[in-house]
Amino acid sequence: MRIEDPKIVAALPELSVELRRASSLAELTSLAIGGATDLLRIRDHESIPGLLSLLDYHGVPHRFLGGGSNLLVGDGELPWIVLQLASPDPDVVLEGNFAQVDAAADLGRMVTYCAKHDLGGMEGLIGVPGTVGGALRMNAGAYGMQIGSYVREVKVYRAATRRIEILRGEQISFEYRHTSFAPDDMMLAVKLELPSKPYKEILQGIRICNEKRRSSQPLGQKSAGCIFKNPPGASAGRMIDELGLKGLSVGDARVSDRHANFFVNAGKASAKDMLALISNVRERVRSAFSVELEHEVVIWNA
Ligand code: EPU
Repeated sequence: MRIEDPKIVAALPELSVELRRASSLAELTSLAIGGATDLLRIRDHESIPGLLSLLDYHGVPHRFLGGGSNLLVGDGELPWIVLQLASPDPDVVLEGNFAQVDAAADLGRMVTYCAKHDLGGMEGLIGVPGTVGGALRMNAGAYGMQIGSYVREVKVYRAATRRIEILRGEQISFEYRHTSFAPDDMMLAVKLELPSKPYKEILQGIRICNEKRRSSQPLGQKSAGCIFKNPPGASAGRMIDELGLKGLSVGDARVSDRHANFFVNAGKASAKDMLALISNVRERVRSAFSVELEHEVVIWNA
């Protein structure tokens, strides 16, 4: 979608918003799939209510993009524009056991930075690609931990009130790969409280998680991490593997040979290919195990 209205274009510099015409979502997502649309880079949180009022007034549909690492975007010209936060410098500020982190900060870099200052707890998240805001919205977790456990405050733009609000950790519910934020809430920043731990000890934990991840996940390939959530008490990856579906392909979309819940773009896969593969696998799991797998990956297809 193109922003045609000159009134919107003229207002953007005042709002510290940069317009990037015809941005390819394939270049902004870890799956390397997705069509094109105009993208607005937001440099100042305070300009968000004004910007969104402007877009709503002119009827411009929009979506919020984080790091693009858990996202499958449709093909061709997209029917909405994309908003993305630019990362400030510095994007992590420490005070005692608290880390104030901008939502646009890179998750892995944030974990490492905190570790170097003897703040641990998030070792399991090392190697998870994406931004802190994305991790927060999905309550990213791995190896027995989840980011939600450390959240004390969240600065969020709430679409329902059209205001920036600060929520306390206990006002938010963090469940398995799910939070109580509304789909159109925009994560802006988070305050984490992290346990003190010597750097060397954290580093050891990081190495163990890195090793486990390297040995079980297709890290060098284009993917969006796990495609399906694990059903209660079971593993989607193991079920798909048991059905012998590793290597199953639709075009260049392929079930990973290393981890069956990772679907990779082995070349020039389209969203259509990937969606067909997802529904094919889902169908086979349904008929073999009578289990309805839920998407873990976020799908923007229309
Ligand atoms: N397994 C197989 N075949 C496979 C994959 C897994 O038999 O192809 C078996 C494994 O041998 C193991 C069990 O299934 O016994 C579980 O596998 P794994 O330890 O890899 O964990 P997972 O349940 O598949 C979850 C998260 C991952 C996270 C890992 C490590 C979900 C959907 N997945 O995977 O998160 O990295 O645990 O904690 O919750 C993600 O969120 O995108 C993601 C990759």
